[in-house]
Amino acid sequence: MEHFPALFAPVQIGSLKLKNRIAMAPMLVGYAHQDGRVSQSVIDYYETRAQGGAGLIFVEAACVDSPAGLEGMGQLRVDEDTCVEGLARLAQAIKQHGAGAFIQLFHAGRQTKKSITGVQPVAPSPISCPMINEEPRQLDSREIKVIEEKFIKAAHYARSAGFDGVEIHAAHGYLINQFLSPHSNQRHDEYGGSLENRMRILMNIVKGIRNINPELAISVRINIDDFVPQGLKEDESIEICRHLEPAGASLIHCSCGTYESGLTSIEPASYQQGWKIYLAEAVKKAVSIPVIGGGMVSSPQFASQLLEEGRCDLIFLGRTLLADPHWPNKARQGELADIRPCIRCNQCISSNFKGMPVSCTVNPHTGREKQFQWTTKPVPKYRSAVIGSGPAGLQAAISLSRLGLEVTLFEKEIQGGGLMNLAGMPPHKQRILDLRDYMLGQLKQSKVEQVYSYEFRPEDVDRLKPDFIVMATGSVPVIPDIEGIEPKGHLSLEEILTGKVCPRSQHLLVIGGGENGCETADFLAQAGNKVTIIEAGRILAPGMEKKNRRDLMNRLQTRGVVRKTSSQVIKIDKNRVWIAREQESPEIIEADAIVLAVGYKPYHPLYKDLKQLGDNLYIIGDALRVRGFKSAILEAELTVSMIARQKLGI
Ligand SMILES: Cc1cc2nc3c(=O)[nH]c(=O)nc-3n(C[C@H](O)[C@H](O)[C@H](O)COP(=O)(O)O)c2cc1C
Ligand code: SF4
Repeated sequence: MEHFPALFAPVQIGSLKLKNRIAMAPMLVGYAHQDGRVSQSVIDYYETRAQGGAGLIFVEAACVDSPAGLEGMGQLRVDEDTCVEGLARLAQAIKQHGAGAFIQLFHAGRQTKKSITGVQPVAPSPISCPMINEEPRQLDSREIKVIEEKFIKAAHYARSAGFDGVEIHAAHGYLINQFLSPHSNQRHDEYGGSLENRMRILMNIVKGIRNINPELAISVRINIDDFVPQGLKEDESIEICRHLEPAGASLIHCSCGTYESGLTSIEPASYQQGWKIYLAEAVKKAVSIPVIGGGMVSSPQFASQLLEEGRCDLIFLGRTLLADPHWPNKARQGELADIRPCIRCNQCISSNFKGMPVSCTVNPHTGREKQFQWTTKPVPKYRSAVIGSGPAGLQAAISLSRLGLEVTLFEKEIQGGGLMNLAGMPPHKQRILDLRDYMLGQLKQSKVEQVYSYEFRPEDVDRLKPDFIVMATGSVPVIPDIEGIEPKGHLSLEEILTGKVCPRSQHLLVIGGGENGCETADFLAQAGNKVTIIEAGRILAPGMEKKNRRDLMNRLQTRGVVRKTSSQVIKIDKNRVWIAREQESPEIIEADAIVLAVGYKPYHPLYKDLKQLGDNLYIIGDALRVRGFKSAILEAELTVSMIARQKLGI
């Protein structure tokens, strides 16, 4: 039986009929060769998403004018006829699974750096983006015409490669958006000033492509709101969309935000599912061509409801498909518990900003699509034990079982999930509990024998005789070496986040301003407590992903959390702490209670007893070195892969 008929109803885009209304959003993943050509990783990544059932795949921002228009390493290029051969293999890989294949045509304008392109960034006006801080060179009108031609030419290359459509990237603060927005376009010629002049470059490109390629579908991704002062706002954007339709656009793809406005184009975890659908809804009322809306969409019920209510014609899914490329097929079959949830940690975009290929916390296969595909030849009877059921242990147990091994999972607590049970408790972190439930659900469906409330002992090795042991015993809190500290007399993160202790209207001191300390402070402040964070370093949560960090810092500010950085706790006496600050006399703060949040250290009590197993003992995740979920899950998968290849020869 097919579920969610509204999601799986076909839709017509110009002369192209799509099998359903799920569009994979363009996402620059950085898997291309360094010269911008299509690599096998690019093909594997997109082919997997097409196989997963999306009706339309937008291939990521591909540069029409390198080097000036490039944004990052490993970015695809579509600016020479030599690019066509690789792009043709890519289009074919997508289309053979019944998905429509579009490619996004891109120029960075001022949102790039000389260190990436080797040349000074260019823009409509010499106004630098505050997040980049490099003054761009103003394009003259002759150069603008050359760039228009490059977009038109790129569309021709895409068509020659067999793509069904192209998308003009006119959103997110890149070159075309810079022209549209009075915030970044202060020209006085035919490309600046009035709306008609500001949208000239976009209209010339759309009309130019349409003239040469009457059959090619043209999507325009446009900001309906830039969310910056003097930026593009709904009224002007809708006017632009009204002009795009007669100019030849087949599809409007609604988005918002720029580098400068920060959080709205790739949102942190606190944003609600579908929060910006009102933008698409407004466009839909103004045009008759199909409109794509989305943003933070993760549940098939919700996506389907948006379509049923007529708020847009297609739904875009970005990170949701990085986390689980098979979301569309699983939704259609009603296998909702099998969808691996995106936890909105933004580690994907964070790797992108660091110039690294995109990888996903919850899905170790993203960007490694073929790496973990073992041949399914029968495995000789091997027995394995996994100790610990945090993210590393769960992933290892599930994958070993899929490999065909007999697996017993030992957990000393009464329930599985390890630190996911705590990490999912602070505000806006609940998706981590969804991930825990997903992993426990996969475990339940597997043949893994589960033993809870049992601490694995060395004698169990003689009894069970496992061929392999995977030790995933996680980590335990660090007790800082501070004069007067009485660990039992202070609160732990566990006591707070599990609700064993529920302080209300108290003054609490959180010692340690890393990610865990700050999130716990947020949790406590939300419950109506007065909270002070004391951190020895210069900034709070330095290792946290930028967008979620900025969002968390804003919340701490709004909730009145006092933040004392560069502050070393030198002594504790009951609930009083002595704090030393550079060049200042020590301060004494008294509170109702102290919460210790100075981090975690590896926990592997059995290591000494089990090390005689030699290379049949694997220590993974935080038990090896504390690094968090992403490394834990990846390491589990890499370990299983190693066992498959090296020990089982498959
Ligand atoms: C890793 C990554 C790369 C992205 N690259 C692009 C891009 O190339 N072009 C684009 O228009 N948007 C890009 N985006 C934005 C997404 O298309 C999408 O609008 C955004 O992630 C919000 O949708 P979601 O909540 O479904 O992920 C990117 C997002 C991510 C996470
Ligand atoms: S890295 Fe995090 S935000 Fe990005 S897709 Fe994966 S789970 Fe989602």
